[in-house]
Parts: sequence; C-alpha cells; structure tokens
Amino acid sequence: MDIDIDAVAERFAGDAIILDVEQVLKSGKEAVVFRCSAHPSTGVEAVAVKVYKDIEKRGFRDMADYLDGRIGRTIRKRRDILHMFSSPDSMQAYWVQAEYEALERLHGAGLPVPKPLAMCDNAVAMEFVGEPAGFGDDGEGGVVLEPAPRLRDARLGSGEAAAAKEALVAAVRRMLELDLIHGDLSPYNVLVREGKPVIIDFPQAIDARFHSRGAEMLSRDLANILGYFGKRGLGSEEEGRALAAEWWELYERNAL
Ligand SMILES: Nc1ncnc2c1ncn2[C@@H]1O[C@H](COP(=O)(O)OP(=O)(O)OP(=O)(O)O)[C@@H](O)[C@H]1O
Ligand SMILES: [Mg+2]
Repeated sequence: MDIDIDAVAERFAGDAIILDVEQVLKSGKEAVVFRCSAHPSTGVEAVAVKVYKDIEKRGFRDMADYLDGRIGRTIRKRRDILHMFSSPDSMQAYWVQAEYEALERLHGAGLPVPKPLAMCDNAVAMEFVGEPAGFGDDGEGGVVLEPAPRLRDARLGSGEAAAAKEALVAAVRRMLELDLIHGDLSPYNVLVREGKPVIIDFPQAIDARFHSRGAEMLSRDLANILGYFGKRGLGSEEEGRALAAEWWELYERNAL
C-alpha cells in the first residue's frame, strides 16, 4: 500500500472538510477513492477523498501531456519548473493541483462536476456523487447515499439515455468554451446521478489554447462518448469525431 489515508484524513478533518473515513470506494490504477462523512460546514451530504498513488506509478507520457503548453505560460518561472521536477512529491502535487483547479473552474461555471472542497499534496476532497439508496436512513434522520454508477454500468431508459447524451455533449462544448478539454473522457469517467451525468477524473485535463494535441484529444473524448451511446442507436464514433472537428474549427476562429 503506497498511500497513507490516515495522514490525509487527519489533514482534511483539521480543515473541517470530513469527520471520518467510512469506506474505500474504489482502488484504481492511479488513485484510491474513499467515502468520508462530511463536516457540516461543507454543505454536502458526503465527501469523496481521492488519494493519488505514487507518481512513479504514473506513465511519463501523462506527465509530458500535463506539461505540454504549460511551460512558459501557467508555470511562468523556470525556477517553478525545476522545483516541480526536483522530487516525485512535487510532481505529484502539480498533478493533484491540475485536478483541483479543473474542478474549481468547471464547478464555478455551473458544469456537472463534483464540488471541489479541499486539496493537499497527494489528495483532493470533493463532493461525493451519490444517490439515495431507496430505503432506510442513516439513523440520524439523513438519507443513505450509495455511489452513483458509472455511465458504463448505469441502467438508463431510452429517454434518459438521449437526455444524458445531450447533457454530456453540451458539457464538453461548454468546457471547450472555457478552454478545457478533459482528455480521458469515457463511460468510465462519467457518473450518473438520478439520470444525469456528472463528469469526474480531471488530472490530465488540458488547456485547449496551448496544448499541441487539443484537436486530437477533443476528438477522442467525443468519439468515446458518442461511440458508447452509439450502441443504443444514439450516435457513433464518427459523429463524435465530426462534431469535434466542427467545434475545433470554430474554436480556433474564436467563434465557438
Ligand atoms: N466524487 C465522487 N463521488 C462518488 N464516487 C466517486 C467520486 N470520484 C470518484 N469516484 C469513484 O471512484 C472511481 C475512480 O475515480 P477516478 O476515475 O477519479 O480515479 P482513477 O484513479 O482515474 O480511476 P480509474 O483508474 O478507474 O479511472 C470512480 O469510477 C467512481 O466510482
Ligand atoms: Mg477514472
């Protein structure tokens, strides 16, 4: 186990974000996500704490993508770049910051993403995306929430699927208007809460203004999503790529 949830929990409890760690939600290849009870001051019903695994476990390809377009722009000083590469911990911290900042910008703009609550060197605390479990309460008059399923696993009626597709496509477009491309969008990184999509997992998100492969990443994101809905007769990968090409052309002309 290369993560220390106790230290992270202590930190976020001290920040008045969480009360207790309740359970591991998912241990993925890049991060472990814990469900925690929320400190009342957060205004959310439960907190998801995403703790990143060691940076060494992450491909260098990802790090190169993250840096693309940032050097000389968002990271202005040469000193900052040297600092970033000076240790695995500081590279990790930049990666975590990328996810937190993307969530902040998107949530602030009203996009369907979890509300970010706090970050530290190796973890992000955000709103837990859950659905009422259907019955029971937590013994204190609150509703029991279960994790919202990933789009990949969600059971949507055909009307719901069509609405979810429209909402996702609109969110990707709105993100591009805000100069952000998710970069790893797929039915695995979208949760479905009460029929509505919530997009997660942003550490690799890129700034469309400066990244050298923005068009390609937008195309892949939209092809993944429309390809998935295509299995329900609601689009196709080709349609996703065509939409991406159309939007990119408008974006480059400042006409989106
Ligand atoms: N805010 C949240 N609310 C509820 N569940 C969440 C939240 N964030 C993440 N999860 C759960 O944890 C899983 C992993 O999160 P995420 O995709 O951000 O990490 P990851 O390391 O990239 O995982 P993977 O390797 O599976 O893509 C999600 O599929 C989801 O089930
Ligand atoms: Mg993921």
